[in-house]
Amino acid sequence: MEVSDPDAIVNVEGLSITYRTVYGNLQALNTVDLKIKRGESVAIVGESGSGKSTLGLAIVKLLAPNAYYTKGRLLLDGRDITKLSNRQVSLLRGSTAFMIFQDPLNTLNPVKRVDVQMLEAIRSRLKQKGETFNEEAAYQEAIDKLKDVRMPDADSIIRRYPHQLSGGQIQRVVIAMGLLMKPKLMIADEPTSALDVTVQAQVLDLMRELQQEFHMSIIFITHDINVAHSISDRMVVMYAGEVSEASPADVLVKKALHPYSQALIASIPTTSKKEGQLNAIAGSPPDMISPPKGCRFHPRCPFVMDICSRESPRTVTKDESDVRCYLYG
Ligand SMILES: Nc1ncnc2c1ncn2[C@@H]1O[C@H](COP(=O)(O)OP(=O)(O)OP(=O)(O)O)[C@@H](O)[C@H]1O
Ligand SMILES: [Mg+2]
Repeated sequence: MEVSDPDAIVNVEGLSITYRTVYGNLQALNTVDLKIKRGESVAIVGESGSGKSTLGLAIVKLLAPNAYYTKGRLLLDGRDITKLSNRQVSLLRGSTAFMIFQDPLNTLNPVKRVDVQMLEAIRSRLKQKGETFNEEAAYQEAIDKLKDVRMPDADSIIRRYPHQLSGGQIQRVVIAMGLLMKPKLMIADEPTSALDVTVQAQVLDLMRELQQEFHMSIIFITHDINVAHSISDRMVVMYAGEVSEASPADVLVKKALHPYSQALIASIPTTSKKEGQLNAIAGSPPDMISPPKGCRFHPRCPFVMDICSRESPRTVTKDESDVRCYLYG
């Protein structure tokens, strides 16, 4: 068993991931570093295609079959999952982490009632631990978990099929099923973007409460900087497959260091109620099959220097921020 930092639930060091495509190799992650502490809430933000989902999926080894690890280490709860077999990772994932996706309906089986699915999850957890299954106790545990996610009318909801539930109810069932596994880490990939605004806020509040109640870590993937700021202790900004900056959420919003994070923060509309869309930066993200040499942001960067187009910067720590930019060394 490897443990490089016992306080970290996730420890990613120099991770690179490539997708094989018919057009060539797409370099979706380039030497990414990321550390998530136990009990910490971290939001990953960045434009579409910046590699947020790839990073989330890599952490639980659920990447598409055309993806492969090219470099680096990825420790989940102290174990390097790039070196474990699929079966070992699946056991580790079951007891450590669960992932919530944008479209939660896909996570549930449409032809099975909620109670059947929850009982199956409990049965598999007990089996992994060599404990015996008791239907009555399991049913009670399932009801309790639905109550933990503040599901009104849990006794009736549990007997329904997924299509008989609203979007917000489905997302709560999915979270309750995740909690059944007693995870240490919850990864939520745009979990509320399919919901309407009021329900979105309720689900976000719920996730924040559960994180504290169960002392879980959360990785929260979103396009919306305002949401990211409200839910996280720390924010990680990604650009074109690289982590540009990782800072405490308040620091990032008040004093972003990387020119790309500064542009992102500047693009948040402050007077209107519109969501924090990431749209005010001149130019467009690079082609990831042949990304720019050096810093991938340099063609769009207002502070570009000679070195930026030659070599990829290393991540340096400045005050409370980790930043990958030559302006800081
Ligand atoms: N299975 C795949 N095969 C080939 N390329 C992929 C695959 N999945 C993602 N990509 C590419 O990898 C890059 C990163 O994609 P990813 O889905 O991680 O971005 P993202 O930040 O989550 O974007 P979004 O905000 O749109 O969800 C993109 O260029 C994307 O087109
Ligand atoms: Mg995504």
